[in-house]
Amino acid sequence: MRYQGREVDEGRVRLMMESALTARDRVGVQDFVLLENYNSEATFIENLRRRFRENLIYTYIGSVLVSVNPYKELEIYSKQQMERYRGVSFYEISPHIYAISDNTYRAMRTERRDQCILISGESGAGKTEASKKILLYFAVTCPTNDHMLTLGDRLLQSNPVLEAFGNAKTLRNDNSSRFGKYMDIQFDFKGATMGGHILNYLLEKSRVVHQNHGERNFHIFYQLLDGGDNDLLNTLNLERNPHSYRYLVKGSCPRVSSISDKNNWRVVRKALDVIGFTAEEVQKLLNIIASVLHLGNTLFGEGEEGETYITTETQLSNAAKLLGVDGSALKEALTHKKLTAKGEEMISPLNFEQAVSARDALAKAVYGRTFNWLVEKINQSLTLKAEIHHSSKDASIIGLLDIYGFEVLQHNSFEQFCINYCNEKLQQLFIELTLRSEQEEYETEGIAWETVQYFDNKIICDLIEEKHKGIISILDEECLRPGETGDISFLEKLEDTVGGHPHFITHKLANGKTRRVMSREEFRLLHYAGEVNYNVNGFLDKNNDLLNRNLKEVMCQSENQILSHCFRREEVIDQKRPEMAASQFKNSLMKLMEILMSKEPSYVRCIKPNDAKQPGRFDEVLVRHQVKYLGLMENLRVRRAGFAYRRRFEAFLQRYKPLCPETWPNWNGKLADGVSALVNHLGYKPEEYKLGRSKIFIRFPKTLFATEDALEAKKPEIAVTLQKSWRGYRERANYQRIRHAVIVIQSGWRGMKGRRRAKKRREAAHLIRRFIKGFINRHEEYCDDNDYFLDHVRCSFLKHLRKNLPRSVLDKSWPTPPALLVEASEHLQGLHMRNMVIKYCRRVQPEWKKQMMQKVVASEIFKDQKGSYPQSVGRLFLDTRLEREQISLKVLQTLGSEKVQYGVSVIKYDRRGFKPRLRQLLLTNSFAVLVDRTKIKQRLDYAALRGIFVSSLCDGMVVLRMPCEDNKQKGDAVLHCSHVIELVTKLAMMASKTNYVNVSPGSIRFTVSRTKEGIIDFIRGSELKVAKGKRGHLLVTAPQSSAT
Ligand SMILES: Nc1ncnc2c1ncn2[C@@H]1O[C@H](COP(=O)(O)OP(=O)(O)OP(=O)(O)O)[C@@H](O)[C@H]1O
Ligand SMILES: [Mg+2]
Repeated sequence: MRYQGREVDEGRVRLMMESALTARDRVGVQDFVLLENYNSEATFIENLRRRFRENLIYTYIGSVLVSVNPYKELEIYSKQQMERYRGVSFYEISPHIYAISDNTYRAMRTERRDQCILISGESGAGKTEASKKILLYFAVTCPTNDHMLTLGDRLLQSNPVLEAFGNAKTLRNDNSSRFGKYMDIQFDFKGATMGGHILNYLLEKSRVVHQNHGERNFHIFYQLLDGGDNDLLNTLNLERNPHSYRYLVKGSCPRVSSISDKNNWRVVRKALDVIGFTAEEVQKLLNIIASVLHLGNTLFGEGEEGETYITTETQLSNAAKLLGVDGSALKEALTHKKLTAKGEEMISPLNFEQAVSARDALAKAVYGRTFNWLVEKINQSLTLKAEIHHSSKDASIIGLLDIYGFEVLQHNSFEQFCINYCNEKLQQLFIELTLRSEQEEYETEGIAWETVQYFDNKIICDLIEEKHKGIISILDEECLRPGETGDISFLEKLEDTVGGHPHFITHKLANGKTRRVMSREEFRLLHYAGEVNYNVNGFLDKNNDLLNRNLKEVMCQSENQILSHCFRREEVIDQKRPEMAASQFKNSLMKLMEILMSKEPSYVRCIKPNDAKQPGRFDEVLVRHQVKYLGLMENLRVRRAGFAYRRRFEAFLQRYKPLCPETWPNWNGKLADGVSALVNHLGYKPEEYKLGRSKIFIRFPKTLFATEDALEAKKPEIAVTLQKSWRGYRERANYQRIRHAVIVIQSGWRGMKGRRRAKKRREAAHLIRRFIKGFINRHEEYCDDNDYFLDHVRCSFLKHLRKNLPRSVLDKSWPTPPALLVEASEHLQGLHMRNMVIKYCRRVQPEWKKQMMQKVVASEIFKDQKGSYPQSVGRLFLDTRLEREQISLKVLQTLGSEKVQYGVSVIKYDRRGFKPRLRQLLLTNSFAVLVDRTKIKQRLDYAALRGIFVSSLCDGMVVLRMPCEDNKQKGDAVLHCSHVIELVTKLAMMASKTNYVNVSPGSIRFTVSRTKEGIIDFIRGSELKVAKGKRGHLLVTAPQSSAT
């Protein structure tokens, strides 16, 4: 096996091909190349016949498709069939027009080269049908989008319109193309149709006014009459019966059973809409069609003096109305001729014949130019839309040529001459591109080759088109020559000039046998496809294709926009003679050849099996004739002797290099060596290929297919490699972009940061400088030099102050102010203190306030006086030292309305013996009582209170001095209380006698009776002791200050 890993696939393909081949063998061979006896014409025709009988109408000669017209609908054009052929190798499946289409399409896509499909064959052989099938295949199978869907529709719908206006029933073909058509289909890089363009060639205008027996005018006339509704016909002043119109009955067969004009009318109407014709345009178009019919019915009479006049005024006015021109101007122009002689304009009447031919010329010109307008209009609708136009430079093109086929009629005229000349040219192209160039190629490439003889029709082409010597030149010359010229003089001139040419005969030059079948007005050309006698009558007129100037002038003024577009004013003004019809045709064919030569051609050779348009009939003589003149046998011989495939080394290497490790990814040596290495690796056998000087030639298609299959199988691998590289590249590029962006941002940011820092530094330096200067001048008056410093000092002091303000009134600290703020600082300190005090005061509760007031009073009394005072400062004064329950109810009742404000347990010492007795001292608002359990022992009115005495030591002795003269008051009370400071303070405050408190340092005297005094002596000692002294006084030992 040749390709590693591909055994199974290859086997499958081979098997498919071979089994298909055997199946087809039963009905001949699908490719004539496979014929054993390829030199025998009989075998060739037999193969065609066998296949035709089985409805196998397509057969290949290599890559050329031979198609035989079946004259019946075959079930081989369905969508499924299209799918079958899509993307499948040419030879893997039975021959088909779709295979050619698909192959062309794929070649266009893979090789990115413009392609063209040339369809040839004689009239009725099936060219137009084939071109429609190809178009349909592209429309259905190519990728599409919305725009392309419309475009595809328009491409397809252009056919019925062009056929209606450009095709006619002839003896050979019920739908014979009477114009040539070359269509470009443009594809974008994804392979979707993106536009189209049609070139049309020489419409057989003479058919508008004359048809041979058994033939018809262009379809549109009959379609309009048969299919148009009554209203439409009324507006056009038409009758339904075609027999009423002279232009429609020249061939005596306006109705044909095989053609449904009514249905076709509907199709055409719809197609016009799809293509984008507006209702107004359609109306204008039909006006023109109807005007031609009315013109045809415009008849002339001849007056007694030979003058011509119009006998059918209604027809004329109908025609004028529909043409949008002035009736009388038209009438004048149809019967008179305007001449310019020596700069002077002259009007001369036309004779009867001249008037008839002027009318016919007008009908032909109107129809012919309208047809051109129609093509122009269709082209506009197929033109790329602006938004996708930008990609049109990437467009690839497939051209489709469907031109009138070679035809031999009983009476052949100028039109047949042109048609057959065109076919000669196409045959030339075929020879050029297949037979001659192929053989020349083998020669230049140095490939051993046995030359195949073929008939080169260049000699006939030269006979017709050669400059000065060719038939067309002679015809032109005869048209332009002054003096008496005519068709016969043209024939004579031909005899003089090309009389000796082997392919040219006239009655005069012919031998006796030929003379019998030729009239004197004919010349015969021995075309590649057969002999044709052309009658020279009308050649000069048709070549001149002249329309009287005054008729042109009338048409220029038409209100019908189509006609005013077709008949330009410049044409009337321009005195230059337009190019002759035949030369025009010749030049357009030259251009066509150039277009075709620039593309890669594919061929469809159509064969007509019988002249009766009947299915199933295979007329061998007719077919043999076509096989012969189409050069199919030569084509086959060249194919057999030659190679199925050739490719320039670089192209071959470029395409298949991935299949060989030596050539992949690049071959750097000589191209021939690379190709050699590649084919050796692929295992080509010597008989399968040859290497020329610059090309490789592969003999059998199967060799190529195997290679192509191997490439197909390799593609995923290549795709992965490409993807890898592409992704790598993309990521790298992306990374570089990001990196660059980061660097830009970084540098921007760093720059900004640097600038900011520098600015900051500058400002800082400036500040420091100001600061130092300010410091130096700090003792100066406030000025520019020190303002900053001084402000700073102030500000920082204030800031510092703010953070270090004393938090309580007791905290007397205060930051030291700078010299300039001493005064302000003092103010602030005062303010702050007041503020704190206010705040403090606001916070103080009533009980606390009472407490404070008492403490203040205590301080006033005892501070620095009594030893136990400092210790008492920290202890809170209680509201009372006796709970209510501790006081006897009876006592309380006795007190009545006087409320006990304070109660404390005390020891009362008798004044005489100092016997201690436990008592309760209760203070009310106006007096104090000493209570012994339930009994009030002594009442001490505050008003009578003469003094309150305490010692300076840490004892609890207190003496309340009461007047001794008052008997009610039992005299001074000597008490000891553990809460002496609290008691004394409260008592003094309640009695409002704080200044009555005395703190005596040594002793306290008290009255025992009116005449007797007692003494309490206080001495310092380590602990408190109250005892009766030897002198009958009370001795109190107490520490001087309390140990905290
Ligand atoms: N593939 C086909 N299948 C069925 N019928 C076909 C096929 N090809 C041709 N025909 C029949 O043959 C007739 C003539 O074919 P077509 O119009 O394509 O001929 P042509 O080669 O274009 O002739 P001309 O040169 O006169 O235009 C068609 O109208 C159709 O009836
Ligand atoms: Mg045709």
